[in-house]
Amino acid sequence: MKSTTDFLEMKRQRKKIVMLTAYDYPSAKQAELADVDMILVGDSLGNVVLGYDSTIYVTMEDMIHHAKAAKRGASNTFLVVDMPFMSYHLSVRDTLLNGARLIQETGAQAVKVEGADGVLLHIEALVKAGIPVVAHLGLTPQSVGVLGGFKVQGKDVESARKLLEDAKRCQEAGAFAIVLECVPKQLAEEISSSVTIPTIGIGAGVHTDGQVLVYHDVLTYGVERVSKFVKPYAAINKQIVDGIQTYVKEVRSELFPDDQHSFTMNDEQLKTLYG
Ligand code: KIV
Ligand code: NA
Repeated sequence: MKSTTDFLEMKRQRKKIVMLTAYDYPSAKQAELADVDMILVGDSLGNVVLGYDSTIYVTMEDMIHHAKAAKRGASNTFLVVDMPFMSYHLSVRDTLLNGARLIQETGAQAVKVEGADGVLLHIEALVKAGIPVVAHLGLTPQSVGVLGGFKVQGKDVESARKLLEDAKRCQEAGAFAIVLECVPKQLAEEISSSVTIPTIGIGAGVHTDGQVLVYHDVLTYGVERVSKFVKPYAAINKQIVDGIQTYVKEVRSELFPDDQHSFTMNDEQLKTLYG
């Protein structure tokens, strides 16, 4: 399994870090088989697995439940777990207790937190306590209400400067990587060359040190619409619905189960049973 220092080394050697989300045993197993460098049990599970319209409804219990399953599917891959809404804001003590639970109860290697303002002290405390932290800047879905929608971040000079400063502050606080979500590619490039820790982009162009996408988006699995930054590499939703439809039809027309999928008794047994 790779380690936090391996990811720093990958940045130095300009080797791209590939991250994918996974939320359960099969998806994590598939990600590990496909040789991703890092798996993220994202709180995007609220959207793509639980059907909420926001990540703010996701609880610590949800994250732990899914991360445990993912770890069982990918025991040899570096696993990052999102700290859910409000689990790293109330106090350093709360943050440490929640961070510890996410690591200890799931076997994950690191946690991820959104934002910098008001969170830096908590990043520092987590790292000091021995919990590796991934920062997440730009479009931070847990604060979409404050941001005013799912919009590209850092498009004007002021907010671009703020993002660059925040990235440096996250590095100083001890984060070992930064997810950059929905920022112009030029800004993502500037940020990536201004910090020594790897940046992992989603909707942030090709110049970040790595990329992350959501499992369900990559495979077009249960999602109707995907963002501009998503490239669907497979379309399994159609295969799944087609498969289920054929099953439904065959049951209704008694094509299924045929003899090949049934158990039978021989004549002797039948005679003994019914005389
Ligand atoms: O929850 C998630 O899937 C994420 C990624 C989009 C970075 O935070
Ligand atoms: Na997330």
